[in-house]
Order: sequence, then structure tokens, then C-alpha cells
Amino acid sequence: QRHRGCLCSANLGEFFIPRGDVYLAKQPPLTGALRDSSACEGLKGLAEEQVWICQRQAEAMDSVKRGAELAIEECQHQFHNRRWNCSILQGLQVFGKVAIQGTRESAFIHAISSAGVAFAVTRACSRGELEKCGCDHKIRGVSPEGFQWSGCSDNLSYGIALSQAFVDNPERSRGVSSSRALMNLHNNEAGRKAILSHMKVECKCHGVSGSCEVRTCWKVMPPFRKVGNILKEKFEGATEVHPKRVGSRKLLVPKSTRFKPYTAHDLVYLVASPDFCDQNPRRGVFGTSGRQCNRTSHAMDGCELLCCGRGFRTTQGEVVERCSCKFRWCCSVKCKQCRHLVEIHTCR
Ligand SMILES: *[C@@H]1O[C@H](CO)[C@@H](O)[C@H](O)[C@H]1NC(C)=O
Ligand SMILES: *[C@@H]1O[C@H](CO)[C@@H](O)[C@H](O)[C@H]1NC(C)=O
Ligand SMILES: *[C@@H]1O[C@H](CO)[C@@H](O)[C@H](O)[C@H]1NC(C)=O
Repeated sequence: QRHRGCLCSANLGEFFIPRGDVYLAKQPPLTGALRDSSACEGLKGLAEEQVWICQRQAEAMDSVKRGAELAIEECQHQFHNRRWNCSILQGLQVFGKVAIQGTRESAFIHAISSAGVAFAVTRACSRGELEKCGCDHKIRGVSPEGFQWSGCSDNLSYGIALSQAFVDNPERSRGVSSSRALMNLHNNEAGRKAILSHMKVECKCHGVSGSCEVRTCWKVMPPFRKVGNILKEKFEGATEVHPKRVGSRKLLVPKSTRFKPYTAHDLVYLVASPDFCDQNPRRGVFGTSGRQCNRTSHAMDGCELLCCGRGFRTTQGEVVERCSCKFRWCCSVKCKQCRHLVEIHTCR
């Protein structure tokens, strides 16, 4: 069953689409109707091509926005205990001179954003919220494993195409002779590949009392959390590259011959990351002063690394937990509230 996605109150609040090196952050709330495609011109920070896409694909813009939000949430989840915690979205001004240009953090943002847009648009397609796309009903027949394909498989083509158009376009217009544009385009594609290469099969059994005589199956995208985990791993193993002219083309090749060649699924970056230790508003670095750290951890969330050797302060804090829970017949669980003191460490 299809219904029209309601754009009447579409609020294109916070876009998070890398545009070149500038991230579109807070958009003023748009109360006007987006059906009126002139609203697209009112969106701040969009490149000219993105305004055209917005006008032509107005019905999908709500999903594009949702994809951007998914990307922010996921980025902040994946980086919550690192020095750079993805909270770079404090307004457009911050992004004038971003510290992460060309770095692996930027690679992650591009990948997760383009994946987020492809994901959210595809989900809207499968839910029947958009006119221009729907489920993939073409996967039919019996699989080699003996199950019957049927139902609504996620059809990624429209979501991927829209992500390519909306997220890649500003890069393309910079020309692929720019190393930064090459890097961003590669990482955008790697983000979408993280969805494509992790499609799952879901099945339902039919038959008397769950005997599963017939199994019908369809393809679904992985949960977005999984996409985030995959890309976080790619972030850890990202390849440092540099531009190299090969014939008339410019390519990005691994900086060291000791590095293995990267694939279309990997993230690449051009510039080593700063340490993100000290606040530098001009460059958009918050610094780690005031961040909560873990005194016993030797990982990135440990006070030693997170506080960059500046040390930390310890205060007492109170945690309220459910405790002494008892099962009551039938069927509830009654708990007490326990308060206990904990030490909270924050970076100097
Ligand atoms: C998937 O969507 C694309 C674009 O919306 C469409 O052209 C294509 O036929 C669809 N594929 C299937 C298998 O349904
Ligand atoms: C990230 O760290 C800054 C301080 O460096 C803090 O103000 C902000 O709330 C943190 N953001 C998230 C999403 O944890
Ligand atoms: C702190 O780190 C230790 C060691 O990695 C871990 O076991 C513990 O759960 C962490 N504590 C908190 C509050 O995250």
C-alpha cells in the first residue's frame, strides 16, 4: 500500500552532508511547505546542484534529512569515547576551517553520511512512502538453498542513486583533479558499499503449526548500527594515500609501499589527524578538557590518553540504580532504588 510522503511540514533541520569540506550543520527550521520547491532555495549551505536535486526529488528530501540525522547519531555513538567525539556540529561557522579536512575522521564522516542517505531513502522506498521507488519484487522463484523468494526486498538502486547525486555532486563539481575530491568520492562510495555488501536474507515460515514447509525470504539492509560498526573498523584500518599522476589521470595510491593496496570498501585519507587535545575554535576543535574519562582503562577512553597527559579531576557523583529486584507472582518485577556513590573523573 502506497501513500504519499507528507512534505507539508517537512523540516529540513540539520543537514549533515559533507559539502566539500564544509559540513552542513544546523539549518534554520523550515516551516514552509516543501511541496513548493522554491523552499529548496531557502536551505542554507546547499550547493547549486543540491538545490536542483532538492527541487526535482522534493518528496525524498525528508528521507535525505533523516539519513543525515542517522549519520550524526551513529558517528557520535561510534566516537563517544575518543578525543574527537563527532560533536562538530555546532553551527555552520565552526566549519570554516575544520581541523579534520582530509583526515581519517573526515573519511568516516563522508562514508557514514552517504551511507545514511542511501539507507534512509531505501527504507522509505520499501515502506511505500515515495512515488519514485518501491520494493524489489523482481527477486522471484526458488533459491539454491530451496526457499521461496517473495515479499518486499529492499531495492537499493534509488537510494544509492540519490545518495550519489546529493552527496557526491558537490565533489564532482570541484573536478576530479582535486585530491580532496577524489578522497571524498572514494569514501562516499565505500560508505554505500558497506550497506550493499552486507545485505541479509530474512525469512518467514509457512505451514501447519510452524512446520516451515514453505519458507519465503526477502533481502533487507543490515541495521544501521552494523553499518556504523563496519565503517568504524574501516576507520581504524584506513589507508593513508597520496595523489599520483598515471597517464592523464590522477589516482590516490598508498603513501607507503608497505601498505597493502586498498579496495573499494576501504577508507582512505590524505592528511594525518591532529591530536584533538586542545581547544581551537577557529579550527573547530573542542579539545578534551572537561571530558569524562575512565581511570582504569588503557584504551582511548582512559584518562591518560583522553586527557592528553594533562591529568584529571575526581569528583563524587551519585548513581541511582534498580536493585534487589524480586519477581512477583504473576508477573511483575519489583525493584528498589539504590543510590551509590561513584567517582567521576574529568580531564583537566
Ligand atoms: C529498483 O528500483 C529502480 C529505480 O527505482 C528500478 O529501476 C528497478 O527496476 C528496481 N528493481 C527491481 C528489481 O525492482
Ligand atoms: C564531545 O566533547 C565535547 C567537549 O570536548 C562536549 O562538549 C560534547 O558534549 C561531547 N559530545 C558528545 C556527543 O559526546
Ligand atoms: C573502565 O575501563 C575498564 C577497563 O577497560 C572497564 O572494565 C570498565 O567497565 C570501564 N568503566 C566504565 C565506567 O566505563
